[in-house]
Amino acid sequence: MSQRSAPFAPGRLLFGGDYNPEQWPREVWDEDVRLMRAAGTTTATVGVFSWSVLEPRPGEFTFDWLDEVFDLLHRNGIGVVLATPTASPPPWFSSAHPDALPVEADGTRKVHGSRDTYCHSAPAYRAACVRIATALAERYGRHPALQAWHLHNEYGTLCWCDHVAAAFRDWLRERYGTLEALNDAWWTAFWSQRCSTWEEVLPPRATQYLHNPTQAVDFRRFSSDAMLERLREQREAVRAAGSTAPVTTNFMLPTWNHLEQWSWAAEQDVVSLDHYLDDTGPDGEAFVAYAGDLARSWAGGGPWLLMEQSPTSVPLRGRRATRRPGEFTRHSLSYVARGAQGAMYFQWRAPSAGSEAWHGAVLDHAGADTRLFREACSLGAALGRLAEVAEPPAEGRTVLAEVAVLWHADGWWALEHQVLPSDAMTYPEAVRDVHRSLHGAGIAVDFARPGADLRAYRLVVVPSMYVLGDAAVRSLQEFVEAGGVLVVGCLTGYAAEDLHVVGGGYPGRLRDLLGVRVDELHPLAEEEPVALSGGSRGHAWSEHVEPGGAETVLTYESGSLAGGPAATRARSGAGTAHYLSTRLRGPDLDRYLADRCAEAGVEPVLGRRPPAGVEVVRRRGARTDYLFVLNHAATPVLVTGPGEDLLSGRASGAGLTVAGGDVAVLRQAQRGAADPWTVVAADEVPGALSPATPR
Ligand code: GAL
Repeated sequence: MSQRSAPFAPGRLLFGGDYNPEQWPREVWDEDVRLMRAAGTTTATVGVFSWSVLEPRPGEFTFDWLDEVFDLLHRNGIGVVLATPTASPPPWFSSAHPDALPVEADGTRKVHGSRDTYCHSAPAYRAACVRIATALAERYGRHPALQAWHLHNEYGTLCWCDHVAAAFRDWLRERYGTLEALNDAWWTAFWSQRCSTWEEVLPPRATQYLHNPTQAVDFRRFSSDAMLERLREQREAVRAAGSTAPVTTNFMLPTWNHLEQWSWAAEQDVVSLDHYLDDTGPDGEAFVAYAGDLARSWAGGGPWLLMEQSPTSVPLRGRRATRRPGEFTRHSLSYVARGAQGAMYFQWRAPSAGSEAWHGAVLDHAGADTRLFREACSLGAALGRLAEVAEPPAEGRTVLAEVAVLWHADGWWALEHQVLPSDAMTYPEAVRDVHRSLHGAGIAVDFARPGADLRAYRLVVVPSMYVLGDAAVRSLQEFVEAGGVLVVGCLTGYAAEDLHVVGGGYPGRLRDLLGVRVDELHPLAEEEPVALSGGSRGHAWSEHVEPGGAETVLTYESGSLAGGPAATRARSGAGTAHYLSTRLRGPDLDRYLADRCAEAGVEPVLGRRPPAGVEVVRRRGARTDYLFVLNHAATPVLVTGPGEDLLSGRASGAGLTVAGGDVAVLRQAQRGAADPWTVVAADEVPGALSPATPR
């Protein structure tokens, strides 16, 4: 396994996008490269969907055009992230191997004509992937322009065909050992689902009524593992051909929940992420922070790579957010602040036709004389000035957070497939709400894998992690015993990994640690929140909580639970375990988490909440730290403290004004000294606005 041995350190921050020269005549390539240089491009992502052009007939490769692309880019100082094109097999492949087309849960076999029309477990598909990956690696694996391998694109196409059924059974045999154990785990005495031979065990195909939830979640786990095996096969092919370039595959947020990212991260040399916004403005900023913090955490503290984002719009699948002027820059720098080794995007040149002709592109149909292209040029130059930021700290973590939020795909899958007394409880929403609150308070946040060593943190939050394994329970206990503050949200720890509900009162797996016993669930209608003490309101869910050893922090004040505890606190060892039996939103959640932060001694990045609309992030470098001040607001802020703004070259000591919409990246003169900086609204400081500091 190619466990990351050294952090991904390309020597500079990468900037560039998906590049498809095969869609254009040769003369356009020269213009592309000229304009790429003008935009400070370091990298082009090539080959993502080029299979039918690279291998027009089985085993017949046409590399001449790609040879020329490599050489042209290389001559111009632009590196290549080379994708294996396996997300889109060519028509000849699908015609020759109809059994390798994906089958829906209802048995419909898809036909060729879009992309991602493959079955991840079809033998012919696996062989064809290894063949094209090998051929590419033999040809380009040692090319000096090669910066990284981008294996496949956004793994996540599920299939329910017979190949998959066979592979699923193998995976289940491995997991459970015997059919008996499988029947027990799946609770198959219910609804006459007991299987008497392995052949009767199926993927959760379309059926008459509700699926077996344990079967459904196991299928998600299996699908992730099967696709991970495909990644390994390609990685081994590339390595066997002698290429040592770092290997990655692009994860996808927000709605793509097909992979268990922690195990995937361990198989790559660098974690990369595609991130598309569903909102701009403040929630877009919070979402960028969320994605950046997740990717960094999956990468073990970073560094990682932002592989795709849209420079402007995403006219697809309901993702219709269009970035406002300046947001491409500020958002890119926000990812970088969170450990990204660059800000790559989709796409360089908008195609004239095809279903992504209207997708945002740095070079859109209007050409290079556009506001966006000028913004891209200035962003490229800014990233160039930040080259030293790309040198990671020796000890790995690029951001030191004291708060961790537990994250696992199991949490998402379990809530999706479990039939609960309320449909309003969704995992990604619960996690994002917590992150949004902490981020809004200026607090640095990591995500942690259940079972991880949590000693680096003062506060750990577990939003709606329905299933918890033994290791996860143990690590939470140890964290609290050792003095940590734990916050457990409702719908956490009800079940073990087989989704069997732990009896004796909820949340069974954490009942003792939390010092509570829940004996009744009271889901709430969307339009009927419940009043809580202190003016807060609980949404979607409420519970009858019997405090054992716990004391009450918030009380239900309306509804059938009025007078009973809504939130509790229990001491355990040197720490505290909080339970929140309902969902808080917005300012209520902000207040609740601010209290927990205060209790844990967690402070905002510079010890003070930044002015509204301003993000302050500290990224650790090899020799010193960098303070990113991202002013998303319209009014200026003043930064003081010894350092230099790498973007403008100005010193910050006497005070540096960062205009509304602008960014400063300060190099700390010396790491480790007491926090030397302050960031305040400029109008709080008399005279701060003169002289103006143009950029
Ligand atoms: C990504 C994908 C790209 C492009 C983009 C459009 O998910 O990797 O190829 O389709 O979406 O937003």
